[in-house]
Formats: sequence, structure tokens, C-alpha cells
Amino acid sequence: MQKRPFGSNKLNVTPIGIGLAALGRPGYINLGHAADLESNYAVATMEAHAHSVLDAAWAAGIRYFDAARSYGRAEQFLASWLNARAIDPTEITVGSKWGYTYTADWQVNAAIHEVKDHSITVLNRQIAESREQLSAYLDLYQIHSATLDSGVLENTAVLRKLADLRNSGLCIGLSLSGPQQADTLYKALEINYDERPLFGAVQATWNVLAQEAGTALNAAHQQGLGVIVKEAVANGRLTSRNSNPEFQSKRAVLGAFATTKDTTIDAIAIAYVLAQPWASVVLSGAANVAHLQSNITALNVNLDSEMLEQLARLSETPSVYWSTRSQLTWN
Ligand SMILES: NC(=O)c1ccc[n+]([C@@H]2O[C@H](COP(=O)([O-])OP(=O)(O)OC[C@H]3O[C@@H](n4cnc5c(N)ncnc54)[C@H](OP(=O)(O)O)[C@@H]3O)[C@@H](O)[C@H]2O)c1
Repeated sequence: MQKRPFGSNKLNVTPIGIGLAALGRPGYINLGHAADLESNYAVATMEAHAHSVLDAAWAAGIRYFDAARSYGRAEQFLASWLNARAIDPTEITVGSKWGYTYTADWQVNAAIHEVKDHSITVLNRQIAESREQLSAYLDLYQIHSATLDSGVLENTAVLRKLADLRNSGLCIGLSLSGPQQADTLYKALEINYDERPLFGAVQATWNVLAQEAGTALNAAHQQGLGVIVKEAVANGRLTSRNSNPEFQSKRAVLGAFATTKDTTIDAIAIAYVLAQPWASVVLSGAANVAHLQSNITALNVNLDSEMLEQLARLSETPSVYWSTRSQLTWN
């Protein structure tokens, strides 16, 4: 996979990256997650499983890896894989996130899986934990799911600390979530410290069903930020796995394009994101090798203008998209 610049940062990425939200902990919201882990949650088994998916990602040429403190043992599994394979830190780009704390205690049916807190106390604790796990591999550190409500973009103690981390060589980013991704991003783009923009990267949900943030992401791209796209297959809703009757008309369009292009629905969905000029890296959230390899075939799918126009019309309203997502069960 051809490396490309990550915005105007000194980092490089590949068109497709891999996210570890579904690999680092027993429970997650993606459709069919439990089945993919065959409900086998022994730590050593899950670590070996994560390593097998990371090996497939490496073999496919993926060179951007996305973790978070709240993804259970994702940073630990990524670090043990990087060390076991003696990966040269300059060969890859590794991003992680702070702001959510994992509270599920390795249980799938935990009452609360993660707690959000964007305070300076949590930032100081979690940057130390991430550095302990990922050491020289950590390139990018992101606020996890920054929203206008969380107040983090007005928290001067946190912003000053992030500026210090930026000045120490880390690329500072933010990930977004919810129906106000665009407004939150526009606010973040205005923040400067030491006469330069604080944020060098943004991670946002954008896919066939959730296209609201496109204009804001293009503005961020124009300002030199690296743009990471998450949930490119809408947590599994844009895959052959989605048998929800309400989705059938949209599935028919994706299915027809998949037949025409001799590929899969997930590859069509990911190809649509790859076609966006502002997308630096599109994350695969696959939790098994077969799904990862299916996702990667998107690189060879060229959607014609008619298909792009039709896919642009499949978007849901942000309120429908995020309320549907909030009903996905942890499994
Ligand atoms: N707020 C944030 O910062 C935030 C939020 C969400 C995600 N992220 C990042 O984005 C990454 C990806 O997001 P995501 O995993 O939430 O969502 P996603 O990529 O939209 O969905 C991945 C899900 O789709 C399923 N899938 C993929 N290919 C498939 C196929 N060919 N057939 C059937 N099912 C398929 C996967 O199933 P399997 O599990 O069966 O492979 C997985 O459950 C995460 O790992 C994380 O790094 C960040």
C-alpha cells in the first residue's frame, strides 16, 4: 500500500489503517462482535487473535494503527505485537486516544464499559499509561470523542498540556462523535497555542449513512490536518451482515454496485470513503482476518460518477444515524 503524507504533519499513513476497538476487549458494539471472537475471552487467546489480525494488516501493507486507553488491552496487545515483530517505529504511524477510561473489567455484560472524563487529571494519567505501553511508537495522541458538551475545547489547563505534548514532538488530534461533529471541528480549528494551530489531526465518523461532517473535514484537510475516517462501515451496518428490513432499499443499491464491481458491500462502502479527497486514512474496524481482507479490496474499486452520486443520496440525518448507533448493543 502506497504511503502518503498525513496532512502537513511529518507523519505518513496508508490509505487504509486498522483500528483496535474490536480487538482489545471482549465487549464492543459492532454487529456480530461476540461471534468474531468466538466468545473466547482468555487474555492470551485474545492477544494471539489480535496479533493474527495485525499480521494480516501488516502483510497487506497497512502502516497506520489506531488504539485508545478505553479499548481494554488494545495498547498492550499492539505494543506486544510491535515488539515481537521488531517493527521499526519509523516504518509506521501509531495513534491512541485519552479521555475515556475502560471500566468493564474484561466483562461483555458490564453495566458500564467506559467512563468519559476530559479533565487534566485524566490526561496526565493516561498519557503516562499510553507512553508506558507504546513508548517510542506513539506518534499521535487524540482527545477521545471531543464534543462541545464535554467542555474540553475550553479547558485551558488541558489545552496547554496538549500544546506542551505537541512541542515535545507528538502530533495532537481529536476524535469526534455524535450529531455535532462539524461544529466541534470548526471550534477546534480556531484553537492556536504558541502562535500555531494546536491540532494536527482529526478523526471522525463519515460513511454512506453519515455524511454530515464532510464539508468540515474538507476544511480541516485544507488547513493541513491529517483526516482519519472511522466507522466506514457503520459498525457493520454497511456489510452483508445487516439484515435490518429498514436497510433493505439501501442494501439493494450497495448490493447492485457490489455485483457490478464484482466485490462486497463493505468494499463499496469503504471505496466511497476512499474517494473523498480530504480522507488521509480510512480505518478498518475488522475483528477477523477475513473481514479485514474484504475491507482492503476497496482499494481496487473505482466508483464511477453515477455511483458516487447515488451513494451521496443514501445518507441518513445525523439524528437518525446517531440514535440508531446508540441502540447497538454491546456484545
Ligand atoms: N470515538 C472514536 O474515536 C471512535 C469511535 C469508533 C471507532 N473508532 C475507531 O475506528 C475504528 C473502526 O471503527 P468501528 O470498528 O467502530 O466501526 P466500523 O469499522 O464501521 O465497523 C466494523 C465492524 O464491521 C464489521 N465488518 C467489517 N467488515 C465486514 C465484512 N466484510 N463482513 C461482515 N462484517 C464486517 C466488523 O465485524 P467484525 O468485528 O466481525 O470484523 C466490525 O464489527 C475503531 O477500531 C477505532 O479505532 C474511534
